[in-house]
Amino acid sequence: MKKKDTVTLIDNSTGKELELPILRPTEGIATIDVRALYRELGYFTYDPGFLSTASCRSAITYLDGANGILRYRGYPIEQLAEQSTFLEVCYLLYYGDLPDSKQLTTFKNDICHHTMLHEALKQFFIGFRRDAHPMGIMVGVVGALSSFFHDHEDVYDPKQRQKAAHRLIAKMPTIAAWSYRYAHGLPFMYPRNDLDYAGNFLHMMFALPTEEYTPPPLFVKALDLIMILHADHEQNASTSTVRLTGSSEANPFAAVSAGIASLWGPAHGGANEAVITMLLDIVNSDNDVQYYIDRAKDKNDRFRLMGFGHRIYKSYDPRAIIIRKTCHDILEQLEPGNRYQELFDTAMEIETIALQDDYFKSRNLYPNVDYYSGIILLAMGIPLNMFTVIFALSRTIGWISHWNEMMQDPESRIGRPRQLYSGEKPRNYVKLDSR
Ligand code: SDX
Repeated sequence: MKKKDTVTLIDNSTGKELELPILRPTEGIATIDVRALYRELGYFTYDPGFLSTASCRSAITYLDGANGILRYRGYPIEQLAEQSTFLEVCYLLYYGDLPDSKQLTTFKNDICHHTMLHEALKQFFIGFRRDAHPMGIMVGVVGALSSFFHDHEDVYDPKQRQKAAHRLIAKMPTIAAWSYRYAHGLPFMYPRNDLDYAGNFLHMMFALPTEEYTPPPLFVKALDLIMILHADHEQNASTSTVRLTGSSEANPFAAVSAGIASLWGPAHGGANEAVITMLLDIVNSDNDVQYYIDRAKDKNDRFRLMGFGHRIYKSYDPRAIIIRKTCHDILEQLEPGNRYQELFDTAMEIETIALQDDYFKSRNLYPNVDYYSGIILLAMGIPLNMFTVIFALSRTIGWISHWNEMMQDPESRIGRPRQLYSGEKPRNYVKLDSR
């Protein structure tokens, strides 16, 4: 007899049964369609942190955590890292296929002509304290972008969605660089259309109006690679935030601003900054690595080994493998004995010790994308508080690609989870003088 592609749920408290369909993926883990559960059996599912919950159907990125596999639109991250560029990956993630040379030229031209910000937006930067964290500036300025583009507000019009995507991809480097420039009392450098995406960002970050500046090719290439590796990662916290915000038909700039806020947390995108802080603490404490490893294992200590562990990868994060090699290659080309080498050596020592320690092995805790990336950014002269900004700048294409996919998904509807209520039973109001 042909097996049915369903599961049957039996409610032992009532004897009722419910047959639920299994939805099969192109690749990876199948899902049980529980949409009938509440209607038929009167139950919600309970899954804090969504460990076993698929929130949507998506064709953009595929992860296999057990085998350390990451693919953008079917292309392995290792091949894209080796052979592609960030802008080409942006095209791939948004449109679904690699562009031919005409499509890539047109796309680059579109992006190039949207890199400027409205002059009035400069006032937004000036309103922040000089010591404002650039992620806070990004949240504010990106959210404010929506008030500058009333000509494209129909989120169900693919052409208007594309315009918003082009504007966000193009303007994020300018907003990111100007957040840095404002904090350092430096004049805003305008984008240059003759430079590629990563080079233009380094130009806006480090050029001075008083002299010629050429972005160092070694750093341009490394930054482009880092941006490819951070471009998308399935339904992570910040991408899910963008989807949930966009599901109410909010404009894409507001949705991306919400994603930036979510990414800021040290458990998510803020980890790259936290890794360097941890490594500097270790280096400045005479490299007492074991002390920090013991703290990370101590249940009574909130300290975690930053850059280690991942909800999906229970093996080495494939991005961390690529970044570690890039980090090694870059440090080899810098002056011997540079201070970044000591951070890298310390990170390698921690990795070696941790991966032999049963606490980390038994929990499948390996270095993730954030573990080595900060050392490369430091070597480029990018300050610590700009690390997560670089992550946000890279992830914008992932966020806006998922938003675009959701807005054309017939199954998509406003996200509105339920709860397991644990509050008071009904009770009557008690007057103040009787309490
Ligand atoms: C990113 O989702 C994505 O795809 C994210 C991301 C992306 O590209 O978008 O990949 C980017 O956010 C990478 C992760 C960056 N964060 C960090 O490096 C912060 C340190 N890592 C942890 O906080 C943690 O590993 C998480 C948040 C990444 C994952 O948390 P989970 O999946 O909820 O796992 P958990 O907290 O339940 O941990 C399981 C066990 C626990 O111990 P037990 O309760 O089983 O005894 O592992 C322990 C945790 O205490 N553990 C760690 C640890 N990470 C998990 N112990 C020490 N150090 C750590 N880093």
